[in-house]
Formats: sequence, C-alpha cells, structure tokens
Amino acid sequence: MAEKLVFLGMGGTLAGTATSAGDNVGYTAAQVGVQDLLASVPGLKSVMGGFEAVSEQVCQIDSKDLAHTDWRALLGRVSHHLARPEVAGVVVTHGTDTLEEAAYFLSCTVPAELLRHKPVVLTCAMRPASSLTPDGPGNMADAAAVALCRQARGVMVVCAGKIHSAAHVQKVHPYRTDAFDSGEAGPVGLVEEGRVRLLWDWPEVTNSLCNLDSAALQSDAWPRVELLLSHAGATGAVVRALLKPDSNEAPLRGIVLAGTGNGTIHKSMEAALLEAQAQGIRVVRVSRCAYGTVVGSSPTDRSGTFASAGLSGVKARIALMLEIASQT
Ligand code: SIN
Repeated sequence: MAEKLVFLGMGGTLAGTATSAGDNVGYTAAQVGVQDLLASVPGLKSVMGGFEAVSEQVCQIDSKDLAHTDWRALLGRVSHHLARPEVAGVVVTHGTDTLEEAAYFLSCTVPAELLRHKPVVLTCAMRPASSLTPDGPGNMADAAAVALCRQARGVMVVCAGKIHSAAHVQKVHPYRTDAFDSGEAGPVGLVEEGRVRLLWDWPEVTNSLCNLDSAALQSDAWPRVELLLSHAGATGAVVRALLKPDSNEAPLRGIVLAGTGNGTIHKSMEAALLEAQAQGIRVVRVSRCAYGTVVGSSPTDRSGTFASAGLSGVKARIALMLEIASQT
C-alpha cells in the first residue's frame, strides 16, 4: 500500500541563495538541502493528504554543470524508490537550465513497468529560495499534488501551475517564472489551488528505450554525441575539428545537427557531415526552430542519409547517445 512520496534533491535555483532577498539574479544555485526546502512549502501537510514526505539529496549542483554520471545517480535513485511498493511516486527538485534534458533522459531510461503506474515529477524555480517572492515552494506543492494523483504516470515537469510531458517540455524564457512551454502539444494539464485539471491524458509510457540494457548505462563513458547548429556563414570547420582524434576526449560517435528551418544545412557544413558519416559517425538532423519538427526530407539533404528526429536538439542528442549505447 503506497504511503510515501519521495523528494529527490538535485539543486538548481530552487535551492539557491543570494546575499539580499531582493536579488533574483545574482544568487548561487544549489545551496539549500531538499529537506529544508520541503520545510518551506506552505500547506504541504494538506497537499500530502496523509502521505509521508521522504527526502534524499542526490546532487547539489547548478544544472548547467551536470554530468552524465549525475544522471546515472538520479536514474538509480528514481528507479530504486519507484520500485518500493510503499512509494506512490517521486518528485525531483532540479535546476531549470537542463530540466528538460533530465526529464527526457528519465523518460527513456526508467523501466517502463515502473513508470506505467507511478509518476516522476520534476520541478524547479526561477527565483532563489532566499527571494522575497520565491516560486519554488509553490512549484513543489504543485508537483506533490500531481505526483499523488491516483492515475498519474510517466515523467512530467511541473512549473508555474502547468504540467508538461517530458517529451514536449522546453525552457523558453531565461527570467520569467513561467519559463516552460510544451510547444504545439500544449501542457498535459494545470494545477489550480492544489487541484489538478488534466487537459490531455497522462503521458503514454511507450518509449522503446525504456528497455535499454541497464549494463549499457553502467559503463563509465556513454557514447560521445555532440550537438551543432547550422547558420548563415557556417563552415565544415567545427565538424572536421571534432573528427580529429583527441586523447583527452572519448571518440566521437554521433552528431545532432540543428538545421535551419525544415532542418536544412549550410552546404559547406553538409559536406563535412557527409565526411563524418563516411567515417562511421551517426548524423541526426533536427530543426533549430522553436516549434514543429522536420517534415519530409530536406532539399539540402540530397543524399537522404541524415536521419531526422522529431525532437529538440538537446533531446535528440540524448536519444542518439542512448541508441548508440544500446548497440554497443
Ligand atoms: C540551474 O539550472 O541549476 C540554475 C538555473 C535555474 O534553476 O533556474
């Protein structure tokens, strides 16, 4: 019988502090422990409705500095807690800057049999904990309300009263408290005064990457996949530099190229990408546009050789990395 809700702390602005309560930008992220953050959530007892809040600090970090090893630690703790019968779900407090990457990563790697019946809800803040008007406590309360919904499943992000699926969520603003958007898909639902109002069904848990061999994720170095952008004046120089062996870096295995418009690529860069592909590097094309995905095959993709992913660049990088990992 589920009776606990687990809060895993990863750091971020939610846990940040500034020297003055009026300072919402000059703060240091990742200073306050998740246990203390929980104590600052107004009305938590009533949101929890008899469930016990259990907390654990997994990392204490500014999310721009997260490494793959931190994701592996998070995945381990999320999977561990979801597998416990007494746990109803997991809330992860996390920095906003790479939140969508962590959410997507978890949606691809937490075993599907766990996610089908229990949710993982990531939440965050745009104002530090020391702010006169922090947004973190309200976001944590909303995340708890979502995680305790009886039918909730899959990986979601809750911020500023909106529930986003891991597949669609993107950070779209560097300052506003309502910093996330789900693009054309729209949010899964809303949290209003602690009540969840679904606009769509809970996210489907169907990703084939859920069954990724866990041994592949235990390896120290995950396949190196870089994310590049095509733009006016682009050349092949960056791609060719990546192809040069570097004793300090793992060998390059893949490139995700965020192309202009419908995933088009500057012809100078395209030539270099074809060279990379001829050397066995996987090249995946996405659009650098904020909305939509690459439709059909791009006019510059004459060879038809660059696969295209209906994901944002940062998520396509994760998908390609996991796909290569599962094949090695
Ligand atoms: C971070 O991503 O850890 C810092 C920025 C934020 O949480 O808004």
